[in-house]
Amino acid sequence: MKAVIFDLDGVIVDTAKYHYLAWSNLANELGFTFTKDDNELLKGVSRIRSLEILLSIGNVTLSDEEFTRYAEKKNDEYIKLIEQLTPNDILPGVKDFILRIKKEGYKISLGSASKNAQFILDHLELTNLFDAIIDGNSVSKAKPDPEVFIAAANALGVDPKNCIVFEDAVAGIEAGKNAGMRVIGVGEKDVLTQADRVITTFENLSLDYLEA
Ligand code: BG6
Ligand code: MG
Repeated sequence: MKAVIFDLDGVIVDTAKYHYLAWSNLANELGFTFTKDDNELLKGVSRIRSLEILLSIGNVTLSDEEFTRYAEKKNDEYIKLIEQLTPNDILPGVKDFILRIKKEGYKISLGSASKNAQFILDHLELTNLFDAIIDGNSVSKAKPDPEVFIAAANALGVDPKNCIVFEDAVAGIEAGKNAGMRVIGVGEKDVLTQADRVITTFENLSLDYLEA
C-alpha cells in the first residue's frame, strides 16, 4: 500500500501571508520590525517556537505569562484572517491532484504543525478527502523531528518507506527524510536542497512523477 502525506501551510493553501501579518503586528507592538525574510524562518515551525524566534530577532524577553498572552493574541488575530478562507484559496491543482491519486489507490494524510489545521481544511471543504489528519494537536515534537509523518504513516497503516511527503519548508523536508520517506519539495530548488525532487505547482502534475 502506498500513501501521500501533505503538509498544509504553503502546500495546500498560502497561509504564510496571514501568519506574517499577525506576527509582524505583534513585533510592531513590541517595538521592532519583523521582515518578510524573517518570516521564512517560521515556516513549518510550531507557534511556540515561532514566538521564541520572533523575540530573539527583536531582542525582547518576556515573562512566561506575557509569552502565553502574546502567543494567544497572535493566534486570535490569525484566526480572524483564516476565517475568511474559502475553497477558492486552495492552491492551483492541489484538489485535482488529490482526487487523481485517490483514484489510483493512494491513501492520503495531512502532516501539519498547525493546531488550526482542521479549521482550515473545513473552510477549504477538503476534510473528507483525507484518510487521516495529523496536526499540531496530535504530536509533541516539532519538525524536523519525524514524529508528525511517522504518526501519519501509522494512522494509515502504511510503511514509511512507501510514503511520499509534499513539503514547502526546510524543516519539513528534513522531517520527511528523517522519517525515511521520499520528499517532494514545493517551492524553489535552491532553497529546498534536501528534497528528492522539487515542484513549483501541482497544476498538471503527472502521476508518473510519484512512481519515478
Ligand atoms: C506550520 C506553519 O504549518 O504551522 C508555521 O508553516 C506555523 O508557520 C505552524 O507557525 C503552527 O501553526 P498554528 O496554526 O498552530 O499557529
Ligand atoms: Mg508548510
